[in-house]
This record gives sequence, structure tokens and C-alpha cells, in this order.
Amino acid sequence: MNDTLAGVRVLVTGGSRGIGRATAIALASTGATVAFGHHGDDAAAAVTLAAVQSHDAGAFSIEADVSVEAEAIEMVNHAIEGLGGLDVVVNNAGVLHEAGLLDTTVEAFDAVIAVNLRGTFVVGREAIRHMVQHGRGRVINIASDLGYLGRERNTAYCASKAGTGAMTRAWALEFAPRILVNAVAPGPVDTDMLGAEVMSETQRQKESDIPLARIGRPEEIANMVTFLAGPQATFITGQTYGVNGGSVMT
Ligand SMILES: NC(=O)c1ccc[n+]([C@@H]2O[C@H](COP(=O)([O-])OP(=O)(O)OC[C@H]3O[C@@H](n4cnc5c(N)ncnc54)[C@H](O)[C@@H]3O)[C@@H](O)[C@H]2O)c1
Repeated sequence: MNDTLAGVRVLVTGGSRGIGRATAIALASTGATVAFGHHGDDAAAAVTLAAVQSHDAGAFSIEADVSVEAEAIEMVNHAIEGLGGLDVVVNNAGVLHEAGLLDTTVEAFDAVIAVNLRGTFVVGREAIRHMVQHGRGRVINIASDLGYLGRERNTAYCASKAGTGAMTRAWALEFAPRILVNAVAPGPVDTDMLGAEVMSETQRQKESDIPLARIGRPEEIANMVTFLAGPQATFITGQTYGVNGGSVMT
């Protein structure tokens, strides 16, 4: 068994499915103690919980809408209490809203920002509040390659993910050297977010132009998160890692 993260206490948001589920499982399978948040999606969260508990019997899930400040704060506090502390937070919860700019209402814009950017801000702020008291910690924010590339019909999503990268660098500077803050910017990954209910066929076709000639698997994003949470990532902060099959090269 790989127990690289033995004794590391982690909170993953948006853990019910997709990248969050793969991340929670990957972290638990490398020895971490895991709590994960989910919003609705009870059946999917139960599937994640069973998989995570097969590695970490003490794992637990927390229902919380990260776009509601009080719920996000309560989730972090619940995680700290249940885990007996918090060493790593993974801000993964996210939504995508596809609409042309001229049809994007303020309400739709705010709804995306409230989850992807403000949710990350509140969860990160509360996790860091705890980490500062204990003198160490890691924050890993899930951004997106669309935060660099831009994408028509995705104003709010692109803005939220560019903001996540900027917030990552701001926190990295503010809390160095004790707390390391990094982001992972996935390219297209095979999850519900790329499904027909969320993204139009035209947009999904754009995801296929990748040098490595395929979209990613959630586990491939989880591997980078696990690395950034672990003992080999001690000299890394303020970075955004593209895990994208070459769809963005920097
Ligand atoms: N799939 C991709 O191609 C891709 C690419 C780049 C970045 N990302 C990012 O990766 C992250 C995970 O996305 P995914 O592809 O696994 O998508 P997904 O839709 O499968 O999962 C999103 C998760 O976020 C949770 N969530 C949504 N709204 C929430 C809220 N208000 N409060 C709490 N949780 C909430 C959902 O319950 C779910 O667990 C997101 O931040 C997404 O923007 C995904």
C-alpha cells in the first residue's frame, strides 16, 4: 500500500462525482484521512463515500452549498472537527454555464461566480484561518485551461477560473512560507461537466483538439492534486499546473 499521505487530513469540495470523487479516492488510497463536501447529489455522494471508506474507514461526507457563505463555513468547521484538524483543502466544486454574452443575465453570471470563485474564496479563507493557527497547510484550487484560453459563450466560467488562478497567487504570497497554495488547471476531462446536459455539441467538439489526442480522465487530475498535497511538493507555491494533454502549453 502507498501511504505517502498517512496522517494528512484533507477536505475536498464537490466530491460527489467527477474530478472531486477521483481526488477523494486517490488521496485516501495514499493514506490521507478524507472528508468531502457535496451539494445535493446524495446517491452519487454515497458511491464516493463507499469507495473512499474502502481505503479510509473514517472518511465522511458533508452536505453544503459552497455558494452560501454560512454553509461553506460550517462545512470547513465540520471537517476540522471530524478530522481533528486540517492539513489540505482541495477547492474543486464547480459549475459551468454556457450562454452567449448578450444572453448572459446578471443572475446567471453571479450564480457561476458564487460557486466557482466566491465558494473557493470562502472555503479557502476558512481553511487558511485554521492553517495559520497551526503554522502550516496546503491549498489546492481547481482552475481550468479556459481561465487562460477564454472561450466564447462561457464568460462567467472563464472569468471565475481566471480569478481562481489570481486568487491562488495572492494567497501564495500572503501566506508564504508556511502555507503552500497552488492550482491545477485541467483541460477537458471526462466528467458530467462535459456531458450533453451541460455543454452543447459545438462546445464539446472544441474539447477534442488535443495534442495527446484524447480527453483526460478524472484520475489524471487527481494524481496532480495528490502530488501537490504530498511530501515531494515542498518547494512549490503560487503555481497553476496544466493537466491538459497539451491543450495549453506555457
Ligand atoms: N471536466 C472538465 O473538463 C473540467 C475542465 C477544467 C476544469 N474543471 C473543473 O474541475 C472541477 C470539477 O469538475 P467536474 O468536471 O468533476 O464536474 P462535475 O459536474 O462532475 O462535478 C462538479 C462537482 O461540484 C459540485 N458542486 C456544484 N455546485 C456546487 C455547490 N454550489 N456547492 C457544493 N458543491 C457543488 C457537484 O456536486 C459535483 O460534485 C470544477 O471546478 C470544474 O470547473 C473541469
